[in-house]
Amino acid sequence: MQKVFERSENLAGAVTVPPDKSISHRAAILSSLCRGKTRIARFSPAADCVSTLKCLEMLGVKQSWEAETLLVEGLGKEGFDQPGLPLDCGNSATTMRLLAGTLAGEPLEVTLTGDESLISRPMERIIEPLSLMGAEISAEGGGGRPPLRIKGGKLVGMEYSPPIASAQVKSAVLLAGLKAEGTTTVNETVQTRDHTERMLEAMGIAISSEGLSVSVEPGEPWPYDFDIPGDISSAAFILGAALICPGSEITLNDVGLNPTRTAFLDIILRMGADVEVSIEATDSWEPRGRVKARYSPLTAIDISEDDAARTIDEIPLLVLLATQAAGRTEVRGAGELRYKESDRLSGTVEALSSMGAMIEETPRGMIIEGPRELTGSVVSSHRDHRLAMMFAVAGLAAESQTTVRDWEFTDISYPGFDEVLKALGARVVE
Ligand code: S3P
Repeated sequence: MQKVFERSENLAGAVTVPPDKSISHRAAILSSLCRGKTRIARFSPAADCVSTLKCLEMLGVKQSWEAETLLVEGLGKEGFDQPGLPLDCGNSATTMRLLAGTLAGEPLEVTLTGDESLISRPMERIIEPLSLMGAEISAEGGGGRPPLRIKGGKLVGMEYSPPIASAQVKSAVLLAGLKAEGTTTVNETVQTRDHTERMLEAMGIAISSEGLSVSVEPGEPWPYDFDIPGDISSAAFILGAALICPGSEITLNDVGLNPTRTAFLDIILRMGADVEVSIEATDSWEPRGRVKARYSPLTAIDISEDDAARTIDEIPLLVLLATQAAGRTEVRGAGELRYKESDRLSGTVEALSSMGAMIEETPRGMIIEGPRELTGSVVSSHRDHRLAMMFAVAGLAAESQTTVRDWEFTDISYPGFDEVLKALGARVVE
């Protein structure tokens, strides 16, 4: 399926973005490890989170819905059933990596597989630490690629320093630590999203942080009733549209504002964006609030390796904003973008260059000269939800029409994104 976008002005309105995808995955997995029922209000409808629910169902975890609230019947720490078939994680690396950590200490033999994109993504990053803890994991795809065959066993806690900044790796190790003997510690080089840590604490697990180190003790989480805030990574696309479509003013309600996720907001403020952030609820486990953005003239800034790690999912969108900003922007240390749902470095450069942007690809980043007038073209999403949404926003700022191919992949994180843009006044031509 394709969607066509035209230059738009005066986008206006208020939006409640879909519930946070990262938090939804974790809420479902951790609830399944409790004994008893957990209520998860506003669970994400994103296809990735549905993949997590399906995998948990195959492990024997019963789920039901009361309107938008998901009820999960946890089986306790070692209560999963032996599945008869491989678990299909779809497009979701978070599902695969977090479930690998969860299953590493279970007395089961489980195969985790996924779609064409997921089976080409690197898994050595979790195989190494989970094997060091005592699990037997083989990458059947060769070269550290899925399917992953996991034979869970007795785990021993350890201190681990991941060679890359990754919340998925950190979370996989911490989840394995729940079933290990002794303390498990992860030392990071950059603070990545800390949702797992916050949830474990809320669920009564002994977890402590000191600087960039986090340690967890074994234990079984207690049931906790979650209410998932809006996904700031989805909100970013709407904010981006407000910043580059003249005359726009958009308010986003109930957005998650966990400081380990708000680097995108810090960066656009540094670029001169007219953005107001108000924290409205400092919930015991996740802060949330309102973000208002208006059309703004932007200036170029440098995006450091540290910035890139803290806003990795928003980098393609920041690159689009940089094409509209005055001056030269350099993105450094963003090599991890090559290992996402697609190679987001080359996908971004290829499509935005075809629209007239001046971008040079470097091995681990990009150099962008702005501002440049964009002209619509036909671009492929590379079956990547975040590239598809970034290209749509680019189309709203471009002369003539922009066609985004393989649009249906936006369901991975933001079902109905085109309808939301339309309701704000964007020109979305079927
Ligand atoms: C995620 C962590 C990030 C991010 C992904 C979601 C998570 O991946 O890109 O969209 O929920 O932990 P990495 O851990 O690979 O950086």
